[in-house]
Amino acid sequence: MIIVMGATGATGAALVRTLSDSEVPCRALSRDPQRLRTRLGATAGPLVEGHYADAADPASLHAAFRGGSQLFLTMENGPRQVEFELRAIETAVASGVRHIVKISSPASEPDSPVAIARGHHTVETRLRAAGITATVLRPYAFMQNLLMLGPGVTHGDLLTGAMGRAACNYVDCRDIAEVAAAALTRPGPTGGTYTLTGAETCSFDRLAELLGRLRGRPVRYVDLPPEQFRAQLSTARGMPDWLADHVVEIQQLAVARPEQPTDTVARLLGRAPRGLEAFLTEHIDAFR
Ligand SMILES: NC(=O)c1ccc[n+]([C@@H]2O[C@H](COP(=O)([O-])OP(=O)(O)OC[C@H]3O[C@@H](n4cnc5c(N)ncnc54)[C@H](OP(=O)(O)O)[C@@H]3O)[C@@H](O)[C@H]2O)c1
Repeated sequence: MIIVMGATGATGAALVRTLSDSEVPCRALSRDPQRLRTRLGATAGPLVEGHYADAADPASLHAAFRGGSQLFLTMENGPRQVEFELRAIETAVASGVRHIVKISSPASEPDSPVAIARGHHTVETRLRAAGITATVLRPYAFMQNLLMLGPGVTHGDLLTGAMGRAACNYVDCRDIAEVAAAALTRPGPTGGTYTLTGAETCSFDRLAELLGRLRGRPVRYVDLPPEQFRAQLSTARGMPDWLADHVVEIQQLAVARPEQPTDTVARLLGRAPRGLEAFLTEHIDAFR
């Protein structure tokens, strides 16, 4: 049985859908059965078994992992993320799980300038030492994150950031999910470490230009000094400090280390990754 943690999240829900479409049974975990039902909707056919699990409650993890052979591990970013992921790995191994596919991030290094990526490095290191098969997926920014920019674009015709002219990689969560499904169901990709991107990088100026053209009304990119952007995320958008720091760190990383697409999605899936323009076209109502 494949266990999917974070099944209400961006990649977990897409993975459940992908497995379900391929008629592969899985157990989908959440802290909230109602949220799970709403999020999965029609996806939750007879092959999807919903189950309660809270990584803060070790007993619930033991119950949720019982009979599992493989685990998809993703966890919301937050102050307890490393603790929760390490507990999930330890419990999975004790429960007989033999393969874990973990969502990590780029720049997963011990001295990474991105605090959350340092946490991913800690978890990756423990996972590789766990004595089971470990597949690590390091996606760049999810295209689905861009939907959070919708209100600023709709109400102010504006994008704001602190990335200057730097371009960054975006990848569609549905491609991440398909790679995860391949690792869980086919021998080829199992056990590797993969950096996942779309086919092209995109700067905020280019993103503004694309959105303006697709919705038929111009969008302007306003570049702010990092500290000013961080203050705006905290005060105007109400982000907790750790999240505002994370957004600025990610953008500054793209400035310091110019990003390039990889061909990993195409190699593993045998087709081109989903494109940014296609994604924006599909979701353009969020930016009108
Ligand atoms: N967003 C990006 O652009 C990006 C880029 C690269 C890497 N990443 C990495 O991707 C990961 C997030 O993946 P995602 O976007 O798929 O997740 P997500 O949408 O943030 O959802 C995370 C899931 O975590 C679950 N969760 C939260 N607290 C939990 C707990 N105590 N016990 C059990 N489950 C818990 C939630 O389930 P319930 O609330 O239903 O319990 C939710 O389904 C992070 O590690 C992040 O660093 C993200």
